[in-house]
Amino acid sequence: MEAKRGSPLLLLLPLVSMTIIFFIHGCSAMGEEKMLVGHGRRKPCKTIVFYLHDLLYDETNIKNFTSVIVATPSWDVKNKLSLKFFGFGEMVVFNDPLTVGRSLGSRELGRAEGFYFYDNKKIFSLWFGMTLTLNTTKYNGTISLAGANHLMEKTRDMPVIGGTGDFFMTRGIATIITDEVQNSNYFRIRVDVKLYECY
Ligand SMILES: *[C@@H]1O[C@H](CO)[C@@H](O)[C@H](O)[C@H]1NC(C)=O
Ligand SMILES: *[C@@H]1O[C@H](CO)[C@@H](O)[C@H](O)[C@H]1NC(C)=O
Ligand SMILES: *[C@@H]1O[C@H](CO)[C@@H](O)[C@H](O)[C@H]1NC(C)=O
Repeated sequence: MEAKRGSPLLLLLPLVSMTIIFFIHGCSAMGEEKMLVGHGRRKPCKTIVFYLHDLLYDETNIKNFTSVIVATPSWDVKNKLSLKFFGFGEMVVFNDPLTVGRSLGSRELGRAEGFYFYDNKKIFSLWFGMTLTLNTTKYNGTISLAGANHLMEKTRDMPVIGGTGDFFMTRGIATIITDEVQNSNYFRIRVDVKLYECY
């Protein structure tokens, strides 16, 4: 009796699993389509522009420095960026302000936390790993970036590899332009963040 009652249910099983397969496939197809649309139209879902100020510690700027050399090759001078081999091998840790305007005194949007190192012996070239922590009523969250920053090129693109808060799971590109360099202890870059995946 029980076996007989069970059999129609068993007959339904393939149908149920096909529905599940269809559902899963449908979801992934929708995901792919979303990504393709985002890529195809090449129009960001969010753009943010700001300036990043990096003031390297040099023993005279104890009050306002925002970055510090943490590793140097054996030939280097302590606390000074060595121009020998274009700084090759130096590593800097930073907590830099991000402002809406060029001026260091303009409104702060957040901070850039991370490190960079000089990775070329023949030209100035950096590799960055950093998180932009934005803390305003409009933007509240973090954006993580990682990649090479070839200083000799006028504009450089760095991948946005993720985010949190308002930037949950985001992806995109940050275009970087050197805005100013003073001596070897201050630089300012303009960062154009273009996000292509927003949730
Ligand atoms: C940082 O402070 C030093 C020493 O007080 C000063 O000479 C320098 O102009 C300051 N830099 C900036 C960008 O404000
Ligand atoms: C973020 O902004 C709020 C409000 O201005 C402030 O109270 C808080 O300390 C800030 N947090 C960070 C991590 O800067
Ligand atoms: C950003 O979000 C955090 C966590 O939700 C909150 O504590 C903080 O006050 C927010 N900051 C601003 C400036 O709204």
